[in-house]
Amino acid sequence: MSGTTSQLQIDGKTVDMAIKTGSIGPSVIDIAKLYAQTGMFTYDPGFTSTASCESQITYIDGDEGVLLYRGYPIEQLAEHGDFLETCYLLLEGELPTAVQKADFDYRVTRHTMVHEQMARFFQGFRRDAHPMAVMVGSIGAMSAFYHDSTDISDPYQRMVASMRMIAKMPTLAAMAYKYTVGQPFVYPLNSLDYTSNFLRMCFAVPAEEYKVNPVLSRALDRIFILHADHEQNASTSTVRLAGSSGANPFACIAAGTACLWGPAHGGANEAALKMLEEIGSVDNIPKYIAKAKDKNDPFRLMGFGHRVYKNYDPRAKIMQKTTHEVLNELGIKDDPLLDVAMELERIALSDSYFIEKKLYPNIDFYSGITLKAMGFPTSMFTALFALARTVGWIAQWKEMIEDPSQRIGRPRQLYTGAPQREYTPIGRR
Ligand code: CMC
Repeated sequence: MSGTTSQLQIDGKTVDMAIKTGSIGPSVIDIAKLYAQTGMFTYDPGFTSTASCESQITYIDGDEGVLLYRGYPIEQLAEHGDFLETCYLLLEGELPTAVQKADFDYRVTRHTMVHEQMARFFQGFRRDAHPMAVMVGSIGAMSAFYHDSTDISDPYQRMVASMRMIAKMPTLAAMAYKYTVGQPFVYPLNSLDYTSNFLRMCFAVPAEEYKVNPVLSRALDRIFILHADHEQNASTSTVRLAGSSGANPFACIAAGTACLWGPAHGGANEAALKMLEEIGSVDNIPKYIAKAKDKNDPFRLMGFGHRVYKNYDPRAKIMQKTTHEVLNELGIKDDPLLDVAMELERIALSDSYFIEKKLYPNIDFYSGITLKAMGFPTSMFTALFALARTVGWIAQWKEMIEDPSQRIGRPRQLYTGAPQREYTPIGRR
């Protein structure tokens, strides 16, 4: 490599490629003209060395354990701000003034109710449906209910769709929960803040008065901040790819939600808690550690490891503190699940297998324990992740749509199937 270009030698031919530099973090080699110049593609399954876009939203330094939203460290945002402030920051690029914040909160709050017909749409699901199945379906259905904000070429409609999704996601997630437990839907109460409103929609019943616990509300709000964006992860890349074809924003967020559901991604919080329950007691931990290390056993310690963080996930550190705050508030002292979690963490952090492979606890390791203590069933964990990540997906989608150089995403492949051959009629096969 030399200066701001790099050179690649292929079949005796030298190809010059520009090096693009970001504000912080690794530079990239621009290979956009590679095929035209060499007739070859690059090959990078899982995109481990490929930057799919240019972005100004979120920065991660996985080796140092740093996460910044628009330049601000996640620790500071989680400590001092609230979730809607983070939403504003991710969407607009700057922290809001007091007036801007009040206006933003008001605009989100005005959109919290969903079309009444959506309640009937819910009746079509089985009662035992997984809340994520209901979320994927109902978020997709929003494009059928809110036609007036699906024209992506109109900035006003883009803004209204963004507000609608941020505001309605808690309502839909709470409805998904209420539907599976057979309780009546609780309408939003706009005098409450965003997260308190969500807790009330989940846990209030018409027969009793419900008082929001401010410690739990603040803890959940912090969980939402920690999950709000994570640059080009699988679900965000799904949203961008879906959006690159011009699909409407509700359809794109439904696609991202579907991707998030997988156990290697957002589904890991549910999987981590199930794993802790399966381990059951501290005595069983060595057996499971041995399974995780066995190359012939597909078992992995859920809630450990990360594609990007090869150091402690900064979100996990804040989450660990939040977990203890919630357990203290609820007076939970002797939780066997927590004992297993703490001992598992201790052993994994001192075991050479995990140290050498840089497998640290990730955010999902602690969030499951906290959400369970708050009263959420495991099946709701990923739905809460989707609720919080919606703003990140929207900010990334908006950034892509507003980029004049945006084109449809179309990866290429290394074909290893049969070469061209002649069709054989069925009687001669
Ligand atoms: N338990 C045991 N071994 C592991 C684990 C684990 N949780 N994670 C990775 N490894 C091993 C893996 O077997 C491999 O070993 P080897 O080099 O000997 O083949 C090595 O570590 C590298 O793993 P990888 O699968 O190549 O790493 P990746 O970057 O493709 O995968 C991951 C990242 C998060 C999918 C993976 O660590 C994993 O499956 N973790 C458990 C699921 C989980 O907690 N996911 C939540 C991620 S955080 C929330 C989010 O952002 O969605």
